[in-house]
Amino acid sequence: MPQPLLTLDFLDTAAPAAEATPSGEVRITAATRTGRQRKLYIESYGCQMNFSDSEIVSSILFDEGFDTTDDLANADLVLLNTCSIREKAEQTVRMRLKQINSHKKRKPGMLVGVLGCMAERLKSKFLEEEKIVDLVVGPDAYRDLPGLISQVDGGQKGVNVLLSREETYADITPVRLNSNGITAFISIMRGCDNMCSFCVVPFTRGRERSRDAHSIVQEASALVAAGYKEVTLLGQNVDSYKWASADGTEHVNFAQLLERVALISPALRVRFSTSHPKDITDEVLHTMARHDNICKYIHLPAQSGNSRVLALMNRTYDRPWYEERVQAIRRILGEDCAISTDMISGFCSETEEEHQDTLSLIDFAQYDMGYNFFYSERPGTLAARKLEDDIPLEVKKRRLQEVIDRQQIHARARYARMVGRVHQVLVEGPSKRSAEHLSGRNSQNQVVIFPKQNFQKGDYVNVLATSTTGAALLGEAV
Ligand code: SAH
Ligand code: SF4
Ligand code: F3S
Repeated sequence: MPQPLLTLDFLDTAAPAAEATPSGEVRITAATRTGRQRKLYIESYGCQMNFSDSEIVSSILFDEGFDTTDDLANADLVLLNTCSIREKAEQTVRMRLKQINSHKKRKPGMLVGVLGCMAERLKSKFLEEEKIVDLVVGPDAYRDLPGLISQVDGGQKGVNVLLSREETYADITPVRLNSNGITAFISIMRGCDNMCSFCVVPFTRGRERSRDAHSIVQEASALVAAGYKEVTLLGQNVDSYKWASADGTEHVNFAQLLERVALISPALRVRFSTSHPKDITDEVLHTMARHDNICKYIHLPAQSGNSRVLALMNRTYDRPWYEERVQAIRRILGEDCAISTDMISGFCSETEEEHQDTLSLIDFAQYDMGYNFFYSERPGTLAARKLEDDIPLEVKKRRLQEVIDRQQIHARARYARMVGRVHQVLVEGPSKRSAEHLSGRNSQNQVVIFPKQNFQKGDYVNVLATSTTGAALLGEAV
């Protein structure tokens, strides 16, 4: 069993730096001070796609005379970039709007807008339900923000929730205000064409579309030139990335895109998320194997370990298929490649035996990390229309806890097997708990903490792992 290290109480958690998965994190866009007239405050919820979109929104509004601020009380325009994935995510935003209302009372000129998935789901209903809201803008309509803001300045409400089949914001350079200057996210596609029966994303993000491969390579190259050392390519289902040039002479799939980005520089690490088990190909795995700078970590959400439940979820693979993909990863990339999952507990009609199958899949895959949730019915989805949400909340919660506990055993074991080995760590900054230590990640996305000596942010350091907390490796530079 792993040895917890008792002398140091580090808690730098292995946060989902490479996830398109909702992390429960709230992100406030950092301030710019360039003397622009109006102040924009953006708070982002949900997944990395939203965090990435907020950088695009800041860029669009910067050109419109807005500096960003991290002080809500001082803002002229407050934007919440929202998430609809589970009921709780929406409740959080409703509560936040109440708090913002009290600020608005003190500063009556303050405009309040809702962006993102909840804006798309609720559309103009939002204006009826939340009187404080002036502006409702869906994820494909951010270019219209300047026009909508002038409309609101003129005393009207502004709504644009049109979804697009083309919009990828490929030409807008995001302003990376929250960045550490070392790691960055690049959206390579938008939307989702899968129809998982539990999921609201196809309704809030629209049809799947892939961004111009050249604009992606250009963005990554510009980041390298600016000193960045790691990029994460983001999409709901990166393996279905597919782009063709207008004249039809050039076709790029995900494996090829990954290779193009990896070839920009051997000093650039490349990550990606999320991989759909039905689509991840051996070609992608071989591409990962060929390039040392493509990190050996795959987020491969299973959702359930039972084939009947997977069919009800409309995931379009069954358990044997999923197990075969895990075996392919182990065969092509070896035991060291990290794998993580998302699991949903208590989906419609899930029996105790079927829940046990999820636990046994966790044992089979020995995941490094799991993002686990209990099922939350979302209005308008296939499951809401066709299936009964019949598992009592206490049962959902108990099953979820069992999933979390089982996953924890494997996470600890996966950390423990890395002790005694040397890891190449990209330093992201000081450790949260000690200014004398640095924190970074290895290729597997595990957190590694070590005494800082003369190393600094952005360095690649070879670190011998000497112990683990179960959620981080501790070691020393060699
Ligand atoms: N595109 C990714 C998932 C994006 S949503 C994929 O296909 O794997 C992130 C995670 O939220 C999902 O993997 C799922 O585990 C969870 N999720 C989505 N809808 C949910 C719901 N209605 N209730 C509970 N969890 C949900
Ligand atoms: Fe949702 Fe499924 Fe699309 Fe993922 S693949 S975003 S779970 S519909
Ligand atoms: Fe992301 Fe939440 Fe939308 S997870 S895509 S912000 S529903």
